[in-house]
Amino acid sequence: MTLKKLVAGNWKMHGLSSDLDEIQSIATQAQRYPGVDVALCVPAILVERAARAVPGFAIGGQDVHHAEKGAHTGCTSASMLLDAGASLTIVGHSERRDAQREGDAEVQAKAHAALACGLNVILCVGESLQVREGGNAVRTVVDQLDASIPHDPTEEAELAIAYEPIWAIGTGKIPTMPEIAEMHAAIRNKLVERYGDAGASVRILYGGSVKASNAGEIFAIQDVDGALVGGASLKAADFIPIVAAAAG
Ligand code: 13P
Repeated sequence: MTLKKLVAGNWKMHGLSSDLDEIQSIATQAQRYPGVDVALCVPAILVERAARAVPGFAIGGQDVHHAEKGAHTGCTSASMLLDAGASLTIVGHSERRDAQREGDAEVQAKAHAALACGLNVILCVGESLQVREGGNAVRTVVDQLDASIPHDPTEEAELAIAYEPIWAIGTGKIPTMPEIAEMHAAIRNKLVERYGDAGASVRILYGGSVKASNAGEIFAIQDVDGALVGGASLKAADFIPIVAAAAG
């Protein structure tokens, strides 16, 4: 099944008011590619201003708390992101799994909270270099996926998966094309096993050092339904060529 590609930028801890012009530039230029879904996940505090600056363009957050509200100092709930104008959020990024020690059960609870609220979710999985070199990447990632994804794919909002090998993030290194193909096929199999036919339409994004120069060959791989892009999403000049590559 060929799915419409989703190219999402993850701005991580980058973005001030002075960057709203760049967001506008990305949103305007993305309109040239109606065959591709494009989104930018910005710091929570920038969501509202970004969403106001680019009406109709998908702005997302980078994390949500699993609870609806309560005594959770410094955290952001799914309904807060939605209220600020977000239409999606990332959950389970490896930088949070690592630095904030988020486990699979917590990531799953976050995904449930966001989807129940009507926020589309990009749920991240990926292996460390040690696991890759030990030959256990596929088993590790499929187990992580199985433990992190929601019990049911919801109809109120969309679940997407991002396969992001940790050692490929921000390093300029990427797996070989057969390695990406093998991983995405394994993720697809698990999604179909868990969700039945609905698992065939969950988009699987690749993330980790995606650039204009490698996007074309990555997007040509079966079951690569888009990309989650970090560094190369900060400037329209770097990001839009990746969107163009997804348009084919
Ligand atoms: P880079 O594209 O900078 O490698 O980051 C990938 C990533 O972590 C996206 O979530």
